[in-house]
Amino acid sequence: MNESEIIKTEEEYLAKVYRRFPIVAVRGKEATIWDINGKEYVDCMGGYGVALVGHSNPKVVDAIVEQSKKLITCHPSLYNDARANLLERLVKIAPKGLTSVFLSNSGAEAIETAIKVAVKHTGRKKIISMTGGFHGKTLGALSLTWNQRYRKSFESMLYPNVKFAKFGNVESLKNELDNEVAAVVTEPIQGETGIILPSNDYLKQVRELTSSNGSLLIVDEIQSGLGRTGKMWAHMHWNIEPDIVTVAKGLGGGVPIAATLARPEVMNSLNVGEHSSTFGGNPLSCAAASAVIDFILEQDLPRRAEELGTYFINKLRMLHDESKYVREVRGLGLMIGVEMKFNIHEFLNRLLDKGVIPLYSSINIVRMLPPLVIRKEQLDFVYSKIRETLSERDWLQTKKA
Ligand SMILES: Cc1ncc(COP(=O)(O)O)c(C=O)c1O
Repeated sequence: MNESEIIKTEEEYLAKVYRRFPIVAVRGKEATIWDINGKEYVDCMGGYGVALVGHSNPKVVDAIVEQSKKLITCHPSLYNDARANLLERLVKIAPKGLTSVFLSNSGAEAIETAIKVAVKHTGRKKIISMTGGFHGKTLGALSLTWNQRYRKSFESMLYPNVKFAKFGNVESLKNELDNEVAAVVTEPIQGETGIILPSNDYLKQVRELTSSNGSLLIVDEIQSGLGRTGKMWAHMHWNIEPDIVTVAKGLGGGVPIAATLARPEVMNSLNVGEHSSTFGGNPLSCAAASAVIDFILEQDLPRRAEELGTYFINKLRMLHDESKYVREVRGLGLMIGVEMKFNIHEFLNRLLDKGVIPLYSSINIVRMLPPLVIRKEQLDFVYSKIRETLSERDWLQTKKA
C-alpha cells in the first residue's frame, strides 16, 4: 500500500477514537522515526512513553527473536523460564518490599488489578483518586480517571465508591479519608494532565495520612516509572514507600506488558481464580521486558534521563524568559511539559513539518516523553524547532488558551 492508501484504509476501518497526525511511520531506531517517504523525525512522543529504551532496541529485538523460536505463549498455570527470569529482574528493581507481582498487558489492567487487591486486602470499598489524575479508560480505571471528557458518556457504569481529592491539597484528602477507604491512588507526577509535579512534602503527607488511616497507597508509575524522571521510580524523588505500584508502557520495549507490584501479604489477599489474565506473563513479553530492564541498568538510563532532562528543561526555560507565549516549563528528567498561552493545534502541525513528533496535553501543553536514549543534539534540534515555531508569530495571534 502507498501512503494515501494506508491513511485511507486506517481512516475507514480503525475506530475513530484517536486524534491523529498525518504521517505514516514505518521504521524507528533509538529516538528517530522514519515515515514512508523516508523523512526523518525526532520522536518526542515516544509511543506515549513506551519507547523508553528506544525504538526497536537491538537487545529487545534479539530477545523477542530468540524467545519466539522457543515458546511464545504459556499460560501462568504452567511455569516458564522467561517469566521466572523477568520476575527475578522486576523484584530487583522494585520499590522496597513490593516483591509480589501480577503480570498483565496494559496500564489500565495494572490499575484494575491494584484496586481489586486493595479492596480485597482491606475489606473496604472506597477508593480515593486525584483531580487531574489519569489511570486509563477501562471501566475500573476510568472510574479513577478525572477528565470529564473521558467519563461523561459512561458515568452510570463507573465504580460508585470513588471520590476525588484535590491533587496537591492535603486538606482535601483529609476530608475524603474515612475508615471505608481501601486505597488512595495517585500518579507521582501527573502525566496526561500536563506534567504536574506535587509540592515537596505532598506525597510524604499522603503516605502518612494513608498509613494512619489503614488505607493503602497505590502509586501509578505507568508513565513516570523505569527511570524516565531520573530515578527508577518517580516517587523516590519524595522518599515515600507505596504499598502498590503499577508499571506498564516502557516495560516491554514496545511489546504489551504491565505489572502490579505489591507486598506479598497484600497481593496474597487474592485467592486462586479471583484474578487472571490469559496473555499476562507470556514468555514473549517477559523476554522483551527482561531485556528492557537489563538495558536500563547497563546503560544507567535513570542517570541519563536526569542529566539530559536537566539540560533540556533549563534550555526550554530560556524560551519562557524570551517568549511571552510560554506560560511555564515543567518536568523531571525526560518527562517534560511546556505550557503555552495559546491553542497549540497548529503549533504541533508545524513541529511535525519540521521533523519533530510531539505529544500534547489538553489544548495548550506540549508534552515530551522521548526515549531515554535520545541524543543531546536531538534535544538541541527539538529546542531549535520549538523556538523557531514560536517565532512564527503570524498564526499565534489566533486562539488564546
Ligand atoms: C499514569 C497512567 N496510568 C494508566 C495509563 C493507562 O495505560 P494504558 O493506555 O496502557 O491502559 C496511562 C496511559 O497513558 C498513564 O499515563
